[in-house]
Amino acid sequence: MALVTSKEMFEKAYKGGYAIGAFNVNNMEIVQGITEAAGELKSPVILQVSKGARNYANHNYLVKLVEAALLENDIPMVLHLDHGPDFETCKSCIDGGFTSVMIDGSHLDFEENIALTKKVVEYAHDKGVVVEGELGKLAGVEDDVKVAADDAMYTQPDEVEEFVNRTGVDSLAIAIGTSHGAFKFKPGQKPQLRFDILEEITKRIPGFPIVLHGASSVSQEYVKIIQENGGNLADAIGIPEDMLRKAATSAVCKINIDSDLRLAMTAGVRQVLTQNPAAFDPREYLKVGRANVKALVAHKIKEVLGSDGKA
Ligand code: G3H
Ligand code: 13P
Ligand code: ZN
Repeated sequence: MALVTSKEMFEKAYKGGYAIGAFNVNNMEIVQGITEAAGELKSPVILQVSKGARNYANHNYLVKLVEAALLENDIPMVLHLDHGPDFETCKSCIDGGFTSVMIDGSHLDFEENIALTKKVVEYAHDKGVVVEGELGKLAGVEDDVKVAADDAMYTQPDEVEEFVNRTGVDSLAIAIGTSHGAFKFKPGQKPQLRFDILEEITKRIPGFPIVLHGASSVSQEYVKIIQENGGNLADAIGIPEDMLRKAATSAVCKINIDSDLRLAMTAGVRQVLTQNPAAFDPREYLKVGRANVKALVAHKIKEVLGSDGKA
C-alpha cells in the first residue's frame, strides 16, 4: 500500500468515535516498533517527523524507513511533518514525499498565522498533500521553541471558524491544557483538560477534525525503570489516559505522542546497560527499546485510541 493522506482516516475516525495515533519517529527501531504494533492490530497510523528529527536522521533516511515499513505492514500510513516552522520546511517535505504537513503558526498573531497557513495550504493542496494548522499555544519545549506554562494560551472558540475558513486547513491543533514533554503539570497539581473549550470549538466547526498535541501519559512504569537505572525523572507527569480516551471519542481525530516513546525506548536501553554494563552490541539494548516501543503503541491503540481493526 502507498502512503495516504489523513483525509479518509479522519472522516472514519470522527464518525467512528476513535482517534488515530500520531507517533514521532527518529530512527529505525522507533519506526519498526510503531508500525509492527499498528500492523498486527490492523490500525491506521500517522508517523510524524519534526524539524529536529530531520536534522538528526536526515529527510531521505526517514522517508525510506517509512517506505520500508509500508512494505512490511499492510495498513494505511501517513507521513506527516510535525510542527513545521516555516513555509520552506513544509515545501521541502511536500516535495519530498510527505502526505501531510503541519504549519505551526501558533506563536504568530492571528492575521500572520492565517497568512502563513494559507500559503502552505495553497502549495500543499496543489500537490495532493493535507495541512494541519494550530490555534492557541501549548506550554513546553519543541525544537527551539520554549513556551512557559504562564504563556500558554487556550484556543479561543470564537476564532476557529474564521481560521479554518480563511486558511482552508484540513485539521486544527488546539490548546486545551495538554503540553509537550514529560513534565506537564506541577507536582501536586491535578491534571485537567478543558473539555468545555473542546465542546465550544466543536459547535463552531462541527465535523471538523481536531488534533491534540502534547498527549503523552508519561507511563509511571517506564519512569520507575529509568529512575531505578540512574535517570532523574522525579515529578514527571502526563495526561491521564482516561482523559485521552474521552477525547478520542469526540471531535479529536489525531493524538500526538512522542515523550511516551522516548521513555519506553530509554527505559529498555538503560535497563540492559545497567544489568549488563559490559554490553557493547547496540542490537542488544536497542532491541529491548524497540520491544518497549511496540508494547506501548499496542497499548495506546487498544486502550486509548480505539483504532484497532480500523485499517
Ligand atoms: O512536539 C514536539 C515533538 O515531541 C518533537 O520533539 O522537536 O525534539 O523532535 P523534537
Ligand atoms: P508529547 O511530548 O506529550 O509526547 O507530545 C508530542 C507532540 O505533541 C508532538 O507534536
Ligand atoms: Zn506537538
